[in-house]
Amino acid sequence: MSEAKIAAKEPAIQTLKTGTYYWCSCGLSKDQPFCDGSHEGSDFKPVAFEITETKQVALCQCKRTATPPFCDGKHRDL
Ligand code: FES
Repeated sequence: MSEAKIAAKEPAIQTLKTGTYYWCSCGLSKDQPFCDGSHEGSDFKPVAFEITETKQVALCQCKRTATPPFCDGKHRDL
């Protein structure tokens, strides 16, 4: 599997409402940090996650987190 593109070296801090979201794992989406279908034809798949109450989250954009879709601070090492 090839390496994901680094979309940004900082997390996307967003307030999300209840619902299902699809985090971009390939780094190619133009709608970061969410999947826009740009992974088509690659080995990457979006990561679905549920938000059960409105809350602020830090979503990984460097695509190197060990806890997708959430930032684990790995961007600081890049
Ligand atoms: S666009 Fe990156 S996983 Fe879909």
